[in-house]
Amino acid sequence: MNKENLIKQYKAIYKKFPTHIIRAPGRVNLIGEHTDYNDGFVLPIAIDRYTNMIVSQNDDGKIRLYDLKYKESEEFDLKNIKPTQQKKWSDYQRGIAKVLLDAGYEIGGMDVLIFSEVPEGAGLSSSASIEIATLLSFKELYDLEIKPIEITKLARKAENDFVGVECGIMDQFASLLSKEGNALFIDCRILEYKYIPLSIQGYSFLVCNSMVKRKLSESSYNQRKQECRDAVKFLQKYLPEITSLRDVSINDFEKYKSFLPDTLKKRIEHIVYENERVIQSYRELLQDNIERFGGLMYQSHQSLKELYEVSAEELDLLVEIGKDEPGVLGARLTGAGFGGCVIYLVKNSCIEKLKEKILDVYSKKTGLIPQFYEIVPSGGAYVWLNGNR
Ligand code: GLA
Repeated sequence: MNKENLIKQYKAIYKKFPTHIIRAPGRVNLIGEHTDYNDGFVLPIAIDRYTNMIVSQNDDGKIRLYDLKYKESEEFDLKNIKPTQQKKWSDYQRGIAKVLLDAGYEIGGMDVLIFSEVPEGAGLSSSASIEIATLLSFKELYDLEIKPIEITKLARKAENDFVGVECGIMDQFASLLSKEGNALFIDCRILEYKYIPLSIQGYSFLVCNSMVKRKLSESSYNQRKQECRDAVKFLQKYLPEITSLRDVSINDFEKYKSFLPDTLKKRIEHIVYENERVIQSYRELLQDNIERFGGLMYQSHQSLKELYEVSAEELDLLVEIGKDEPGVLGARLTGAGFGGCVIYLVKNSCIEKLKEKILDVYSKKTGLIPQFYEIVPSGGAYVWLNGNR
């Protein structure tokens, strides 16, 4: 929807003009899965699908929300912020307001229209894009002095402590700090980042939504986090100085692996080698070695499937289809796993054939109709309309 249209819709609902429009994108991770909460490395890009927040101040200390997709409104008072019992969509905005107030920022009321283009439940970080858009809306309306890294940390805190999902920092970071045409290399321990210009001329990233939504995904995600904590504790017997799996080198792992219980061994092996693959991907992409990078994508998927055990038959099938198709350099599940999306690196001239093949084989075998998103590596969140029109 274009800007004028959004403003028109806003006017129809709130009987006044908005002063600001903020856009925050979803993300897709190129490589480095489940490494963020182990203090490791990740390599996401923002995608050209945004949560749009059309906003203006009000002076009664209330947050009024209208979501164009759900055609639903919600309201809460800044003086009394609690999560909704039914876990409604407005918990994200409530959570952001709460963490800002708790951190001592002075914010006031806001009338908000939300229009999100980021597919939900697909693993493309629609939640992080809502959190970042909400936080930036408060920042713009109330002139908050708040640094980018602090914004990502507060947005993650809202999701961890208020919404109750124990995610890492990657999604919020990517939604805020990505740069057009670049991948974002993040060191999740020290929160430093570098951009990698993506020279993939003639190739594109194609994202395919398996349409598998796993109810279990949240509890399995938290279970993996717990296993990683257990793994650190176990390894500290041999390596007392480590505080996270990030500190375990490949040499350490190979030296002590025979002492490790089977499940922990597999989890550690994934994290240790996945971190290495992110660093290697960084180097390969800087030198435009996209074939080698594609190979690392396949390796990452294999490891997520066999060692970290977060894949699903449907995701494996999508990756296998890619392996047999000409022009596909790499494919892997992206995001938390258990369902959601697969990302392909594919020659532009082969995209249509790949889609046809997937629609044919995947649909026949699973009975599901997958969705495709051809995505462009995009910039992070920005102010689309600033001040009084
Ligand atoms: C989800 C989380 C991220 C990250 C990925 C797995 O997307 O929100 O923080 O842990 O899973 O890489």
